Amino acid sequence: MAAGEPGDGGMATAAPARPKIAVIDLWKSFAGREVLRGINLEVPAGESFVIVGGSGAGKSVLLKHLIGLIAPERGHVIIDGEDLTSCEPAHCLAIRRKFGMSFQEGALFDSMTVFENIAFPLRRHTRSSEAEVAARVRECLALVHLDKIENKATSDLSGGMRRRVGFARAIALQPEILLFDEPDTGLDPITSAVIDAVIVEMREQLDVTMVTITHNMQSAFRIADRIAMLRNGQITAVAQPDVFRSLADPYIQKFLAGEPLEEEVA
Ligand SMILES: Nc1ncnc2c1ncn2[C@@H]1O[C@H](COP(=O)(O)OP(=O)(O)OP(=O)(O)O)[C@@H](O)[C@H]1O
Ligand SMILES: [Mg+2]
Repeated sequence: MAAGEPGDGGMATAAPARPKIAVIDLWKSFAGREVLRGINLEVPAGESFVIVGGSGAGKSVLLKHLIGLIAPERGHVIIDGEDLTSCEPAHCLAIRRKFGMSFQEGALFDSMTVFENIAFPLRRHTRSSEAEVAARVRECLALVHLDKIENKATSDLSGGMRRRVGFARAIALQPEILLFDEPDTGLDPITSAVIDAVIVEMREQLDVTMVTITHNMQSAFRIADRIAMLRNGQITAVAQPDVFRSLADPYIQKFLAGEPLEEEVA
């Protein structure tokens, strides 16, 4: 019986579902410069959450905290109720295995073929046979709509294809959370739209929670369930795309219009 239904005593007691990701009062500075100044956010399971912000706002730094690649000075990153910032190293690794990440720079191994790039995490972290590895590589490539390119060198691929190979590698180990750092950087608008469509499709076909950071608002509107603005080291707004579009905050309106932004606090 669900809470609030007749017969439950009139008590609507259902606890809110635990967020997949919770960030609590996260602080980080580099060489005395505060980049993150008390970040708070929650991402429920299955959501596509997008963080936008100007260049140098700290988006990549925030994303790297989520996966434990950077340790905060203060605050917590909680994944499925477990604190990534205070767990034992071995357990942290287990939590990190829940993530797949597509890095801003693509970060493919250019000395390897497409196949080898995607097989790499499978060979390293699973005991799959070579036949199973090959089957999984093909499955991942099919998900990002790449066929018959397994034997190509990654250096021979276009920017959009490289990005999709990066996605295929990120999903190889069937992560529960996918992180995308600027998936559209350096791509033309049409290729950008294709990449966003692939992201939306992956989200529909895989049982994942997604966090994407970008400074491309068009892309944010295409892929987000909710959009958060990172500014001056804090999340200054979180809203569904339609609501975000009409927020009165003058900074957000300038950001949406692509107008020059005032200088950030250094
Ligand atoms: N490892 C580091 N050591 C020192 N400073 C760093 C380090 N990583 C990031 N920073 C600084 O933190 C600030 C935020 O960097 P970050 O890469 O997160 O920005 P961003 O929002 O991702 O920008 P962009 O849109 O250009 O990718 C920058 O001033 C950067 O120089
Ligand atoms: Mg960045």
